[in-house]
Amino acid sequence: SGYFTFDPGFMATGSCESSITFIDGAKGVLLHRGYSIEDLARDADYIEVCYMLLHNKTPTSEEYADFKNTITRHTLVHDQLTNFFRGFRRDAHPMAMLCGTVGALSSFYHDDLDISDPEQRLRSAYRLVAKMPTLVAMCYKYNVGQPFVYPRNDLSYAENFLNMMFSVPAEDYEISPAVARAMDRIFTLHADHEQNASTSTVRLAGSSGANPYACIAAGVASLWGPAHGGANEACLNMLEEIGSVDRIPEFIARAKDKNDPFRLMGFGHRVYKNHDPRATVMRESCHEVLEEMNIDDPLLNVAMELEKIALNDPYFAEKKLFPNVDFYSGIILKAIGIPTNMFTCIFALARTVGWISHWHEMLSQPGQKIGRPRQLYTGETLRKYTPIKK
Ligand code: CMC
Repeated sequence: SGYFTFDPGFMATGSCESSITFIDGAKGVLLHRGYSIEDLARDADYIEVCYMLLHNKTPTSEEYADFKNTITRHTLVHDQLTNFFRGFRRDAHPMAMLCGTVGALSSFYHDDLDISDPEQRLRSAYRLVAKMPTLVAMCYKYNVGQPFVYPRNDLSYAENFLNMMFSVPAEDYEISPAVARAMDRIFTLHADHEQNASTSTVRLAGSSGANPYACIAAGVASLWGPAHGGANEACLNMLEEIGSVDRIPEFIARAKDKNDPFRLMGFGHRVYKNHDPRATVMRESCHEVLEEMNIDDPLLNVAMELEKIALNDPYFAEKKLFPNVDFYSGIILKAIGIPTNMFTCIFALARTVGWISHWHEMLSQPGQKIGRPRQLYTGETLRKYTPIKK
């Protein structure tokens, strides 16, 4: 009736019930369907995590093989979609292209517009998980002016993505197992994160009955911002701008200065007020990858020193600001050869399964209502209107 809670930024508002992901921000715990992110990052692959998020159980080997096969069979996008790409400027930001092209999938899969059927909803989910790597790789190929590469059914999810990104006609692209493993782990670590801004956006869009592709396009748009998924791109740009260890104190001072809008990118989180467990795994992965690839990246030294200085600074300790998942992922992606402006697309690709699992869960719940926050009106009270002619 007349009462509501005023909670800008939804600092304390529970918007839904969910059984997908659990976070204890004070303890640094992240569980998907009850399984710890550390266990999953070590022993499961992304496809298994996708299955768990969508089906609320770990797959048997047979279910795993079936699921993998289903995803593999849905990786192609209609050739007409290439026309859509060709309408973009060649230097368009890949997130701009991804937002448009994923939404455009709704014009191809008319059956998926019936969102009342749970089986049909799962089919849409499989299509999206399967086609996101294809679309993301197409964004990259379009930017660099190379022909699009077809998905390959003999490769794993991560290998197929790397192949669509980096193979060029008449030149063999050799997929390093270490790189494929690191890519798969980045996907796993970004798969879901309960009611963050983009997931809440997908849920809100879906609550009106919008189709799954339109909802995911809304999620991509929300993820783009530098306070959310755009932080991985912003973090690497920041590390490059810092450039050398001796310039770190200058940037730390800027981050602490309330008159300077600068923030340390890759630091802080709304929910984690201890460490971000994904960052711990990503940090280890980062060292492994650089070692296995024999890369000595000076940015890693800058990152490690920055982390050390910030963690010992009372400002960051008081405000409980720790490195988040985006702090290390950019260094790994850079080592793999992925350009900075593609980083947020990789996040979107990986998060699609989380978004669509939440969408499916929401529509499976009885009594689901359209999301409709209230507001605190601060405008004029009723005033007299004078027609312009007077
Ligand atoms: N550098 C310097 N100061 C910071 C930072 C930072 N990265 N993050 C927060 N603060 C300060 C902020 O100025 C504020 O100080 P005060 O209380 O004196 O006004 C205090 O800490 C609380 O910040 P807030 O903005 O009210 O906290 P929030 O929960 O609304 O914001 C955040 C969380 C992630 C948006 C923020 O920490 C941030 O902007 N971080 C940098 C961007 C980033 O790395 N984002 C990726 C998040 S993890 C991946 C994902 O899930 O998207």
